[in-house]
Amino acid sequence: MKKIMAKKFKCLFCSEKLYKNKYLSHLKDNHRHNYNSLLKEILKLNNAGYTIKEIENHIPLPEGLISVQLKYLSKNKKNYNIREPLKVDSWAPENFALEATTVWSFPERGKWATHNGKYRGNWSPYIPRNIILRYSEENDTVLDQFLGSGTTLIETKLLKRRGIGVDINSETVKLSKENLRFNKNKEYQPIIYNADARNLNFISDNSIDLICTHPPYANIIKYSKNINGDLSHLNIDKFIIEIRKVAEESFRVLKNNRYCAILIGDTRKDKHIIPLGFKVMEEFLNAGFVLKETIIKEQHNCKATGFWYNKSLQYNFLLIAHEYLFVFRKNCNY
Ligand SMILES: C[S@@+](CC[C@H](N)C(=O)[O-])C[C@H]1O[C@@H](n2cnc3c(N)ncnc32)[C@H](O)[C@@H]1O
Ligand SMILES: [Zn+2]
Repeated sequence: MKKIMAKKFKCLFCSEKLYKNKYLSHLKDNHRHNYNSLLKEILKLNNAGYTIKEIENHIPLPEGLISVQLKYLSKNKKNYNIREPLKVDSWAPENFALEATTVWSFPERGKWATHNGKYRGNWSPYIPRNIILRYSEENDTVLDQFLGSGTTLIETKLLKRRGIGVDINSETVKLSKENLRFNKNKEYQPIIYNADARNLNFISDNSIDLICTHPPYANIIKYSKNINGDLSHLNIDKFIIEIRKVAEESFRVLKNNRYCAILIGDTRKDKHIIPLGFKVMEEFLNAGFVLKETIIKEQHNCKATGFWYNKSLQYNFLLIAHEYLFVFRKNCNY
């Protein structure tokens, strides 16, 4: 009869060979300081949403000991600020089909994964999902430089693209990181910067495969009280000057022949339309882009009933119920 020999494992810190059941107590007794740093590292990866398998790839403890450590950490929640990944009921929309016309309408805004629609002025996840699937491939790098609550990056992670997000507001950056704390495709965890869309100097030229973004519509909705550089504090004329810089940066970072999709709406002043959408489109054309598609996106938060219905008749104007989704292509032959 063969004798089954229990395997021994080398200590991470002193190379002593140990049985698995003695391993942790050896660390605690002989390498207290290193052991504490190890716990902190496990905690950090766990709180960022890594699975046990992925944590094991980062921290070479004998198999099974990471989950022992995590159980220990969650029992001692008070001392260690352990957080479970967000609970998710469904990972994808039901009966999803790509849009095929220039009119898009999503009466149900979409609440799969961690999408929740709470952030004011967020966009329906159906929009980035359509854009990402149509204009990029798995492993491509996708940028949203007006990140907000992270809708685009939730989709890049679900769809296995490398997401990069930028927002001027540090609170918003925190919120989007929170919304991205779910346990799926962790190797596609996006990178997020608290920075200004007009200056993406941390992104190199011709490096992005797709831009998919939703800027503020001048000062129609203000996103912060007084953050320097927040474009939602600018009137239309100043906004257009600044959006030109956004268009130029977009053009610089995008690879040639790739797409840049921007959602933008119009507004009304003194009973007349201000064509903010077309003005923004023009700035992107001036920056060198060509126009691939103009999509009309129906707005569902517009209330054409009661008070507003009567106003529309009384003052003879129509309620704006659409936005533009422009899809540009970088096309330069140098
Ligand atoms: C329309 S919201 C984006 C919403 C996002 N699509 C979502 O689903 O949550 C516009 C965002 O642009 C941000 N923003 C304003 N000025 C900016 C700037 N100069 N650079 C980067 N982000 C900016 C605001 O903080 C706000 O979060
Ligand atoms: Zn040791």
